[in-house]
Parts: sequence; C-alpha cells; structure tokens
Amino acid sequence: RLPSINAPQTASPISKDVGAIPEFDWDNLGFGIIPTDYMYVMKCSQGDNFSNGELKRFGNIELSPSAGVLNYGQGLFEGLKAYRKEDDSILLFRPEENALRMKMGAERMCMQSPTVDQFVEAVKTTVLANKRWVPPSGKGSLYIRPLLMGSGAVLGLAPAPEYTFVIYVSPVGNYFKEGLAPINLVVEHELHRATPGGTGSVKTIGNYAAVLKAQSAAKAKGYSDVLYLDCVHKKYLEEVSSCNIFVVKGNVISTPAIKGTILPGITRKSIIDVARSLGFQVEERLVAVDELLEADEVFCTGTAVVISPVGSVTYLGKRIAYGNGVGVVSQQLYSVLTRLQMGLIEDKMNWTVSL
Ligand code: COI
Repeated sequence: RLPSINAPQTASPISKDVGAIPEFDWDNLGFGIIPTDYMYVMKCSQGDNFSNGELKRFGNIELSPSAGVLNYGQGLFEGLKAYRKEDDSILLFRPEENALRMKMGAERMCMQSPTVDQFVEAVKTTVLANKRWVPPSGKGSLYIRPLLMGSGAVLGLAPAPEYTFVIYVSPVGNYFKEGLAPINLVVEHELHRATPGGTGSVKTIGNYAAVLKAQSAAKAKGYSDVLYLDCVHKKYLEEVSSCNIFVVKGNVISTPAIKGTILPGITRKSIIDVARSLGFQVEERLVAVDELLEADEVFCTGTAVVISPVGSVTYLGKRIAYGNGVGVVSQQLYSVLTRLQMGLIEDKMNWTVSL
C-alpha cells in the first residue's frame, strides 16, 4: 500500500500527481540523481531478521553520527535497472542476482541482509510506486539503488547493532558523458582498487571512495576513467572504477577472472553468456596489460554503463587506439543485451522479470 500522497512532499518538485507521466525532458537524461516519489525502508537488529519494510516518501534519512556506516564504512550498495516496454509494462533485469550479491557482501562485511525474496519484493514494490519515473520506451531506464548500512550506533570498532535496507530510484540515461561513443581510459599503476584478501569482490561503499583520487586525476587530464592493475604484479587488468573490462581478439573475448579482487558484475556475467550463445569463445583468466596492444576491441560492462566501447587506453604515456567508432563485437553484444533488457527480443535466458 502506498503512503498517503498528503504526506510531506519531499518528493519530486516536478509533479506531485503520482500516477501521471511527469512533464520531463526525457531526451536529455544523463546519470544524475532525480528525486522521485517513494523509497523503501526496512530495518533489523544484529542477529535478527529484516521485517516490516515499508514505502516512505523519498527524502532524507536520519542516522546517528556514530552509525557504523558513517564511522567504519559498514555499507553495501547494489544497482539494477527497470525498463518500460513499448506496451507500457515494466521489465526488471535479473533482480535476484543483485539480492544474492548483497547477501554475499553482507557476509563479508558482518552485516545482516534481507532474504532474496525480501530484496526482490522490495525492488518490485519500489519500482511500482515510482512507475511514472520509468522513462518512456527507448529513452532510458529507471536506475534502482538498494543500500544496506550499519545504521546502529557504535564507538569501538564492531559490527553495528542495527541495519537499515533502503531502496531509492532515479531515471537515467547514459553513464558516460560520451554517451555510446567510445571512452578513453588511462591505466593507473600507483593506486589500486583492491587487494588480495580485501573487499574488491563485494560491492562495499569504500571500494568506490577508494578510486575517487585516481578517477579525479584522470578526468582532470581529459580521460573518461581509470583502468586498474593488480597490486601484486602491476601487470594484470582488474577493472575500471565503476565497471568490468573485456578485451576482444578475433573470436576470443577475454575478461579478468573473478578471484577476490574483481567485482562479479551481473552485466559481466550476462555478456559472457550472450557472447557464448553468439559463438564467441569467452575466457575468464588473468589478462595481461600487454594484451591491450594486440586487441581488436576493448569494452566495459556494468549496470550503469551497460556496454561502453573503449576508444583508447593510455598506458605508461603510450596511447593505444581502437579504430573509429564502436567496434563490431561491442555493437553486437550491446544490441543483443539491450534488446533483451527492453523486451524487444525473446528472453530465452529467462532473465527479465515483468511487472
Ligand atoms: C552500477 O553499475 O550499477 C554501479 O554500481 C556502479 C556505480 C559506480 C554507478
């Protein structure tokens, strides 16, 4: 049940008429926060189960200054998308995969987590409550951001005594300002994203704060983003700040194997399956930075970036370029994945969930 729309209007300044399609410039969506109508909130104590989740009007949340998430970074997030089909129904893409990844992350971070069913139901409830913010078919998607945080107060270092699960949503377009045009990456060889035994393979908030310094420096020099190397040999590709990386050579598509320092991306996993179904050989293995020199194409994958073709990678001052425009393999994979996500082709994989 939706809360009364007479509740304090902290939501969209654009339209208060829940249900109607807001007057909105759908043609110029980027990847920025647009306040929507409702968020989902559910809490539990340490050692207990989550219960009594509810929708609230989108707005600020109250936290103790000594909340575990604020003091010791005990937090996780997820990202998934909802698409509007041409018949106006809404499709979610593999929400149970996000639920499972959050559970895995919660285990690593000593947090309570919602069950897979609770997570998926909460996502559905939140999307339906904000249905009018799902962009028209072909104009973008509704980005869904589940958060799990240690919200209880701590002073000494320990798991927080209380956990809060929140979901908010925002309509989005392309992640990179380049849109679908190829991005330009720079390889970072001083700063690292993850270490063996660390938290690189879970979606904890600190992993993203840790890359801001390298990312800001790269952007200041005109690059789109940073490609990280492994911290032991400084030789193998890891990932980009917010997405996984793939290297194409002939019919072989290679991507760093999930071995503790790589985030198990859901788009990564989906692209591996799509590529194999199209006849490509996909290898999950150590990918040496030198292989960038021989590659025909390079592309990134992620929920936010979908598939982003890479136009160049600069490594130790040398720029390796990958031709003009979007590579044929990147284009083919992008086209199959996005048509599947938008319900434009038959979902033989059973990945989409219709609302
Ligand atoms: C996503 O792709 O959904 C992510 O979580 C990356 C984030 C930095 C936008």
